[in-house]
This record gives sequence, structure tokens and C-alpha cells, in this order.
Amino acid sequence: MAAVGSAIGLGNIWRFSYLAYEHGGGAFLIPYLTALITAGIPLLILEFGIGHERIGSAPLAYCKISRRWEWLGWWAVTFVMFGIVLYYSVIISWCINYFVLSFDLKWGADPDSFFFKQFLHLSDGPGQIGEIRTPILFGLVLVWLISWAIVYRGVQKGIELANKFLMPLLLIMTIILVLWSLTLEGAAEGVKTYITPDFSKLSNPEVWIDAYSQIFFTLSLGFGIMIAYASYLPDKANITGSAVMTAFINSGYSLLTGFGVFAVLGFMANSESKEISEVVTESIGLAFVAYPKAISLMPAGNWFGAVFFLCLTVAGFSSAVSIMEAFVSAVIDKFDIDRKKLVTFVSVAGFIGGVIFTTQAGLFWLDIVDHFITHYGLIVVGILECLIVGWLFNLPLLKDHINRISSFQLGTGWGLLIRFFVPLTLGIILIGDLYTELQTPYGGYSWTALVLIGRDWLLLTLIAAFMIASRPWKTRNHKSGGRSEV
Ligand code: PHE
Repeated sequence: MAAVGSAIGLGNIWRFSYLAYEHGGGAFLIPYLTALITAGIPLLILEFGIGHERIGSAPLAYCKISRRWEWLGWWAVTFVMFGIVLYYSVIISWCINYFVLSFDLKWGADPDSFFFKQFLHLSDGPGQIGEIRTPILFGLVLVWLISWAIVYRGVQKGIELANKFLMPLLLIMTIILVLWSLTLEGAAEGVKTYITPDFSKLSNPEVWIDAYSQIFFTLSLGFGIMIAYASYLPDKANITGSAVMTAFINSGYSLLTGFGVFAVLGFMANSESKEISEVVTESIGLAFVAYPKAISLMPAGNWFGAVFFLCLTVAGFSSAVSIMEAFVSAVIDKFDIDRKKLVTFVSVAGFIGGVIFTTQAGLFWLDIVDHFITHYGLIVVGILECLIVGWLFNLPLLKDHINRISSFQLGTGWGLLIRFFVPLTLGIILIGDLYTELQTPYGGYSWTALVLIGRDWLLLTLIAAFMIASRPWKTRNHKSGGRSEV
């Protein structure tokens, strides 16, 4: 349940829908499902297995495999905490704002221009910072205050309770919204775009890297969080079964939301006499255009919208808090420092770091940082994870451990996937992506912006990871072995 809570988040709604849209709908689903089966599920089993067997957060688990690779765990938790979570919190802040805006359907008849012009005051490029958008900043303060309070007091119970109630509610609301959208005029056109595969686009390496990195993002793979969660499981836990369930529930939810989004896009294209590919200014803002549009058209849409954005906010919170908890407990595991001081420090630093995303150039910064972290950070962590566990660690031991306690058994295929197939495919995709990246700068941004914002963000977190990993352990946690050795 906790893994599903971390997996289902804004990635399913905001990120999945805009990627599918950007690649023209049908062209995205084949790579997405391929990525789910060939990398998502095998790696989720690996992360669950390694966390459970080595018993520790990501840095601790890697350290127990080899002290030399401890930095990988730190890199993952650091770029997620001080990269993904920083902009993710800003998107939660947008959701909070949209929760309030819902009551009067403030976005009016043209949610696209409302979102980009009135709400974001979007500037002309990442260099044009402009001013801070106060409503977004206020939302962000709220996000960090709440996260701070939850992690500071260790009141996980509260968020768990909220999750148990609000996640099913989110699902019900989504189903209603999707069914409703399907009745709109032009919806059929939209759905057709979504589910008609476009084989001609499959030769484009960008579709593939986007699909694989979306699978990493949406399953929280390479974040270090699934490793930490699995370490809390009791000795007997169904590793393979939980991994498959988590993956299917999570992706099933994404696929479902896709129908709603594309139905609305079909409607918008129809009523504005435009092509579907033209109805949204910047694809990355799709969720904040398509959903409000649908909500305005519904009977009692304002109430529906408020509840919908509230659920979305909670889904985002449960993911963000899980990462903060993972980072904080990893640091405590190693340095044995005071939890309360650390949480306060991390929250303040997280808030300050996030302010840049609340400016008029925020959307561009968010796009660039997200691009670099998901394409290069998560994929590189995925490759190294396979190589370390597949070649350095005793893979048969891990497989036996998983098989001993799981419902369905892993065959030799899984080992082959981890040792050869997954690192090789990810490696090829990564090289293909780097190649296209160097040909044409991502998203039409300037090289300066991409290097200074994207590359350096990754580099800084990498340096931080090496620095943390090189410090000696203040506790004796790393001295203990794994579960199969006891
Ligand atoms: N899997 C999450 C999602 O799809 C990603 C995430 C997890 C982001 C934890 C931040 C923190 O939204």
C-alpha cells in the first residue's frame, strides 16, 4: 500500500498525460508498455528484493554490497530530494491554487490562456526570471509547512489515514471524470488519437527515452524509496507479487486518466476548430488546461473540481513526504544526527531551493531540471543498479531469497534481464538520447540555459553524494549483513 502511495502521484496525471500528448498519443503507448514490462517490473522486483535482503535505505543497502558504491544511493536520494521534490512541491502548490480556484471556476472559458498567462505569467525563456508569483509562493510555503510538520513529528499515521480514504476517492473521481469526458462532442476523435498506434514514430529515440524515464518516474524507481520501503517488510513478504501489483495498479491508473485527457482534447479541438496538437500552448501544462476545461463543463463542476484537486494534492503530498522521509532516515542512519533539526534544515533548504520555480520562468526551469534528472539521473541509476546487483552482488542468492518468500517464482529470465537486457537497452537508449541532445538543444532552449540549469543541477547533486558517501559512518548500521545471511 505504501509503495502504491508513493508511486501514484502527479506523475500519473500531470507527467503521463503531457508525454502522451507530446508524442501524439498512440505513438507513446507501445514504448510505455514495453518499458513497463522489460524494465519497470524487473527493476521493481530488484529494488524490493535488495531492500528486503540487505535491510536498509538505498545508501545503506549499496554500502552493504560494496562500500565503493555507497555514493549511488546518496546520489539517488539527493537528486530526488533536492531536484524532483523541489519542483514537484511547486506543482502541488499549483494544485492547491486550483483547489481554491475551482469554487468559482476562475479559469473561465479559456483555461489555456488562464494557466499560462494569468496564473503563471509565463515569461519568454528561462533567462527571463521576472518576478515571483505570489499565489504560487504562498502555496509553496503551505506545502513545506505541512511536509515539515508531518516528517518532524513523525506522524506518518495521519498521512496514511488520509491516503486510505482519499486515494480510493481519487480513483472514483477519476472514473467519473473519464466517463463524463467520453460523452463530450469530439471525444471519440481524441480517444482515437490516444489509442491508435503510430508505428512510424517508433524509430524516434526520443519517444523511447521518454517512455523509459516515465516508467522510472511513475514507479519511483531509482529514487531509493522502494528500497527503503521493502526494508521495513517482515521476514516473510511477497516480493514478486507486490511488485507486479504495484506496477499494474499504478500504470493502470495512468492509462485510465489518458482516456479522460484525450477525450477533452478531442472536445477542445472540435469546439475551437483546431488540430488536437494545437490546443495547448506548452504540453507540460496540459493537466492544468484539460482537467479544468472538463470540470467547467460538468454539472456542479465547481464542487467536483475542488474535491478533484484536493485528492490530487494529497496524492502529491504522499509521494513528496515519502521521499523526504527516505532522505532524512538515510542521513540519520549514517550520521546519527537529531531528527528534528535535520527535518527543519531540509524543509527550509527545500523551500528556498524551490522558489526559483515560482517565478515567471518557473515552468521552463522545471522542464529543464525534470528533463535532466529523469533522462540522465534516473536512467544512469537504473543501469548501475543492474550492474552492481547483477555482477558485483550474489544475484543467485538474491533470487533464492526472493523466491523463498514470494508467491510467484523468478526463473532464469529475470537474471538475464538484470544482467544483460535491461542495462544494455537502457545504455543504448541513453546513448541515442545523448546523440539527439547534442544535435538539437532540448525544447529549443539555449545551450547556456541547458548547461547551467540542467547539467549543473545533476553535477551538484553528484558532488554532494560523493561528499556524503566519503564521510565515515557514525553508527554501526553498515556492519550488519543481509537477511539471507542471518
Ligand atoms: N511516482 C511518483 C509520481 O508518479 C513520483 C514521485 C515520488 C515524485 C515521490 C516525488 C516523490 O508522482
